[in-house]
Amino acid sequence: MTCGSVLVTGGAGFIGSHLGDELLRHGYRVRVLDSLLPQVHGPAAGRPEYLDSEIELIKGDVRDPDAVKKALEGMDAVFHLAAMVGVGQSMYEIERYTSVNNNGTAVLMEAIVHSGRVEKVVVASSMSIYGEGLYHDSLGNEYHGSQRCLEQLKTGTWELYNDEGEHLVPVPTPETKNPSLASVYALSKYDQEKMSIIVGNAYHIPVVALRFFNVFGTRQSLSNPYTGVLAIFASRLLNSNCPLIFEDGLQQRDFVSVYDVVQACRLALEVPQESCQVFNVGSGTSHNILEVLEQLAQLLQCEQIKPAITNNYRAGDIRHCFADITAAQNLLGYRPRVSFEEGLTELAEWLRGQIPEDYAPVAHAELSARGLTL
Ligand code: NAD
Ligand code: UD1
Repeated sequence: MTCGSVLVTGGAGFIGSHLGDELLRHGYRVRVLDSLLPQVHGPAAGRPEYLDSEIELIKGDVRDPDAVKKALEGMDAVFHLAAMVGVGQSMYEIERYTSVNNNGTAVLMEAIVHSGRVEKVVVASSMSIYGEGLYHDSLGNEYHGSQRCLEQLKTGTWELYNDEGEHLVPVPTPETKNPSLASVYALSKYDQEKMSIIVGNAYHIPVVALRFFNVFGTRQSLSNPYTGVLAIFASRLLNSNCPLIFEDGLQQRDFVSVYDVVQACRLALEVPQESCQVFNVGSGTSHNILEVLEQLAQLLQCEQIKPAITNNYRAGDIRHCFADITAAQNLLGYRPRVSFEEGLTELAEWLRGQIPEDYAPVAHAELSARGLTL
């Protein structure tokens, strides 16, 4: 598909709004279905200023069959991004996450089948479905199901070891790594991915599930303290508060620019496919959390604010995961173009114009009151 009308659920959010821009630039007509969740859009929750005026916005819930039916009228393809997004929060708002993420996908897929005209569905999945990334031992043996036990986490032993006590080394995680679901959020993202593919296969609707890694960039909600470590750190720093680091800060993630993510989304829409597919969408590089904080603080000229290393474990967290992006490169022609440094510089410029409220203490208090930090 190279032009036509596209529905983006959750398209008023961080990734969805950038996706809208990318699709407009490439000649598509874009409609968004978004409930404008106050946790993401603030209490007033109106049309976000950053949303291009050419994008049609329908305010509605993806779980509402009538709203979804209306949103699908005349649409040739669907990007499904609407979701509750936050690992820690998913561990106590269990019903809400399951309702929005799992049930929302069920309502949407049923409506897509009934619409009879949707040619492609792209669903936003997540690296969270891997749990821990892939690890090797010194002989190069692969470890697919490694986990950290509660006892080791209580003693502040953060790294992973095999049964012989050998320290395991994280390596890029390919799509073939077995899923290992460590949070309700991860479970819901896996459910979204699988459900879309099962329905797509049954009704001959091509589905692509994109497993996003840690996406960063402008427009990431600064009011949502449950996800997006760079946005959370920025809200802390700009309020002259010290960022709180879980574990020792040496956990590694794959930070991918939102511009590269929307490039992958568009390619997934446009590249012809025979069957349903799954791709990692990352940068293919890794950074630890302390390192990214240091660079962000420098760009915001807040180096004097030192982080508090809590040595606490956040329930559902994994130690290291970064992407093997070979499949997306070979089959979609995906090429990450924005380096971490470039992306961070643009983010810092955008942040200077924002007045974020710091909700991190609320999130930390909620997690610790429920025993979800160790
Ligand atoms: P976001 O919170 O900025 O955007 C999500 C949007 O969905 C919001 O605008 C929200 O109002 C909307 N929404 C929430 N519940 C809804 C409902 N019931 N009905 C309709 N709309 C609803 O988050 P984002 O970072 O842009 O994430 C977009 C997608 O990408 C999500 O599916 C998320 O799970 C996935 N993802 C994000 C990341 C990341 O690092 N940001 C990583 C992996 C996967
Ligand atoms: C998680 C999911 C990812 C998902 C994303 C969006 C996993 C493994 N990954 O990423 O798929 O799409 O959320 O919800 O489940 N941190 C701090 N201090 C803070 C906040 C975070 O130290 O104040 C640390 C966390 O402990 C974590 C890292 O920063 O180690 C990244 O956290 P976060 O941005 O929430 O994303 P992930 O948990 O990696």
